Amino acid sequence: MSQTISKSLMGGEDVSVLTVHTARPYDILVGTGLLDRAGEFSRQVNGGSRALIVTDSHVGPLYARRVARSLEAAGYRTGEFPFPAGERSKRLATVEDIYAALAAGGFTRADLIVALGGGVTGDMAGYAAATWLRGIDFVQIPTSLLAQVDSSVGGKTGVDIPQGKNLVGVFWQPVRVLVDMETLDTLPVEFIRDGLGEIVKYACIAPCLCEGEPLFGRLERGDALAPEKRRETILACIDCKRGIVERDEREAGERKLLNFGHTLGHALEKYYDYTGVTHGCAVAVGMAVLTAASERAGLTAPGTAARLAALLGRLGLPCADAASPSDYLAAAALDKKRAGDGIDLVLLREIGSAFVRRYPLAELEGFVLGEGNAAE
Ligand SMILES: NC(=O)c1ccc[n+]([C@@H]2O[C@H](COP(=O)([O-])OP(=O)(O)OC[C@H]3O[C@@H](n4cnc5c(N)ncnc54)[C@H](O)[C@@H]3O)[C@@H](O)[C@H]2O)c1
Ligand SMILES: [Zn+2]
Repeated sequence: MSQTISKSLMGGEDVSVLTVHTARPYDILVGTGLLDRAGEFSRQVNGGSRALIVTDSHVGPLYARRVARSLEAAGYRTGEFPFPAGERSKRLATVEDIYAALAAGGFTRADLIVALGGGVTGDMAGYAAATWLRGIDFVQIPTSLLAQVDSSVGGKTGVDIPQGKNLVGVFWQPVRVLVDMETLDTLPVEFIRDGLGEIVKYACIAPCLCEGEPLFGRLERGDALAPEKRRETILACIDCKRGIVERDEREAGERKLLNFGHTLGHALEKYYDYTGVTHGCAVAVGMAVLTAASERAGLTAPGTAARLAALLGRLGLPCADAASPSDYLAAAALDKKRAGDGIDLVLLREIGSAFVRRYPLAELEGFVLGEGNAAE
């Protein structure tokens, strides 16, 4: 990782820079005080004259003014598009309103969208950027832990429709990502926990190293997000996703590993109509239930499920839900990872190593519930 991260003293601030080598490469900057330098860092990669800050009703009042001031100092005319916080806003109707704001502001191909907020903001603002005039630049300023370690990396943008989550979308890479760790200080604890769900995912699927130590072990010690450790933890996660995305930008193979816990997690989210359970908690349940099933089927090293469950518990994440898997698995049939009558499941060989296995839909429930030995 040390080869891919350069720490540079940019104007006195210590900023870590990680380059994502996708078809259109871009830098992810991690540090503190980056909100006040959004203009300068955007200007380095975009020559437009207007910037629309898309932000939600929680994040906007906290941070939009600072970002706007910085963009204005860098010569941008700014506008703000605030929307009601929450997954329910991540839909086409809101994107249409963003288009209206872009049209009213006279945004051209050269101009910029700035996504300031969590994963909902990034996914939706990114989708608007990808489609406005067939694609304009956007800068991500992820403010939730989940967005900083996951959704702002890799260029997946999109929205939900009533039939399912993230069913409409497009790959569109940002021109820059600014991770200001200070924004985590205002993030409610339940959303910190949500981000931890994705961090556990990385620690499970790849041999993620964090300052030379496996990330899973650091999480077990309980200090991964301590102020003096969080930069390295966040960088380890970004670096893990960056590597996978670089090798498989369009999810033909390895990138599927990032869906560990997500097939069941999405089913659970849908079962509760996207309101009863948060994304990270749903993914935690998905990881735990699936790993217990694959261990029962002899596909995962003995003891893995217990170790995972213990870590999830220690982090305040659930391992099970009141609803039984057979209740929410019906919803999985619509998951977009489904191919024909089969469904790709990401399973662990052991902590730090994962693989993809396709199951006929008809066998999914039996496998998860451990009936017979559907895995073989
Ligand atoms: N594109 C991808 O690759 C990808 C990957 C994972 C998840 N996602 C998507 O991300 C979304 C979930 O992301 P999320 O959990 O960030 O949701 P979110 O954007 O709704 O943010 C969670 C909550 O935290 C608030 N918040 C965010 N930053 C804050 C801050 N600094 N201070 C105070 N409050 C703050 C938000 O207002 C919101 O209420 C889902 O829609 C999911 O589908 C996308
Ligand atoms: Zn996720």
